[in-house]
Amino acid sequence: MRFDFDRLAPRERYKLLTALVIPRPIALVTTVGPEGVVNAAPYSFFNAFSHDPPLVVLGIERRGPGVPKDTGRNIDLTGEFVVNFVDEDLAAAMNVCAVDFPPEWSELEPAGLHPAPSTRVRPPRLAEAPAALECRLFTLLRIGAGRELVIGEVLAAWVREGIVDPATLHLDLARYRPVGRLFGHLYCRIREVFTLRRRGFAEWRAERGD
Ligand SMILES: Cc1cc2nc3c(=O)[nH]c(=O)nc-3n(C[C@H](O)[C@H](O)[C@H](O)COP(=O)(O)O)c2cc1C
Repeated sequence: MRFDFDRLAPRERYKLLTALVIPRPIALVTTVGPEGVVNAAPYSFFNAFSHDPPLVVLGIERRGPGVPKDTGRNIDLTGEFVVNFVDEDLAAAMNVCAVDFPPEWSELEPAGLHPAPSTRVRPPRLAEAPAALECRLFTLLRIGAGRELVIGEVLAAWVREGIVDPATLHLDLARYRPVGRLFGHLYCRIREVFTLRRRGFAEWRAERGD
């Protein structure tokens, strides 16, 4: 089966792409609006992009022509945002933050979430998040009339005590418990992992007996 993307309607492309590119990490993004309202909303067109410089990417759709989502508008206006990671305990609150509250409403109170101060940017992180990245806008690409690609530079990371070993920076998955987005209303937990040790060319040849 083969699909020509130029023959598919946008909604069909969305369905295929979001079903095939799984699981996707979820950024629960906090920003501050022009009136000082703290906004929080989930974005799964999200990933880390490079580490030097340390960049993350968000794909933000518009609600309609000329109507940005609060997150896109706030990042455009202030140049700052925080990516809060979503663990199993935070999943239900994350879903409340996806409600299309008007810009003057903060999602924090309805979702039962609390702000904690950031150090390098004005938007707070979420006290309930297992980890968070303080980000400064690196570039904002306007992709047609309907969406923006936000590239952010990570200035600082917060991780809850006990998740990362400070000496080795190794992460304890059982304590992190992140959720991933699948498609539609489906999400996943990380329950079963396996190891594939990466080899160099010489080792790979030696294993074959070359
Ligand atoms: C798990 C999840 C992931 C989402 N990912 C995106 C995304 O990548 N891009 C997007 O434009 N909207 C995404 N949404 C929808 C937004 O969260 C939703 O439109 C929200 O109301 C935007 O809020 P804001 O206007 O406060 O930014 C997602 C929703 C959920 C539940």
